[in-house]
Amino acid sequence: MIIAANLKTNLTRKQTQEYMDALESFLNAHDISQKVVVFPTASSLNPHAGKLTVGAQNAYATVNGAYTGEIGLEQLEEFGIKTILIGHSERRHILGESQEQIMKKFDFYKALGFTIVYCIGEPLEVRESGDEKMAEYLDAQYIGIDVHYANLIVAYEPVWAIGTGLTPTLEDISSLHLKLKEKCSAPLLYGGSVKVTNAKDVLALDGVDGILVGSAALNVHDMCTMIGYAQELENIKK
Ligand code: PGA
Repeated sequence: MIIAANLKTNLTRKQTQEYMDALESFLNAHDISQKVVVFPTASSLNPHAGKLTVGAQNAYATVNGAYTGEIGLEQLEEFGIKTILIGHSERRHILGESQEQIMKKFDFYKALGFTIVYCIGEPLEVRESGDEKMAEYLDAQYIGIDVHYANLIVAYEPVWAIGTGLTPTLEDISSLHLKLKEKCSAPLLYGGSVKVTNAKDVLALDGVDGILVGSAALNVHDMCTMIGYAQELENIKK
């Protein structure tokens, strides 16, 4: 399974290093075979050798150039980054990234062979407007996206569940994931208020290949606990 931590705009460079070190020792001490990915703030990136993968929360579709405030491939390469989060709802809704910009970014990093964690998810008013509207909305987030890309991971994150403590029911998550899988067979993560108390149930669902965790991942012990759950579930399946 895939357990990913989106640290967003949290932790200093020093705190991030401590976080990575603690996580790395956990992975080694417990013989964890799950894929663990951490997305730190851009200014906290560091070259990392070990079991966990470090990814970028964002980067512009460029090698370098005049894009004030953005980072590009040149900056990612300095840290050996080959994984990127694209389409997160905070970038879509707070930073105003359009599907067209997202598409460009996707194509650029796809051409470079990056692992792309591509986020989709609907706001509350869309969910409340019924299944058909919701399917249309989610479909539109796949416009211009190569769903057959070999290094693609999708994360379904309902916008209303992110950082709110609210989640869809387990049945809803599972049935939606199974539907989304018909459209794209890439590994599919669930994100939105995943925490220690619900992670095991979510991870055990049909159609769920992992989790993308924000707030709860900031506590490294909780992150380790959730990784441990994924490992337990996989050990049972074997
Ligand atoms: P959350 O965030 O776990 O705090 O809800 C998830 C995300 O934004 O990826």
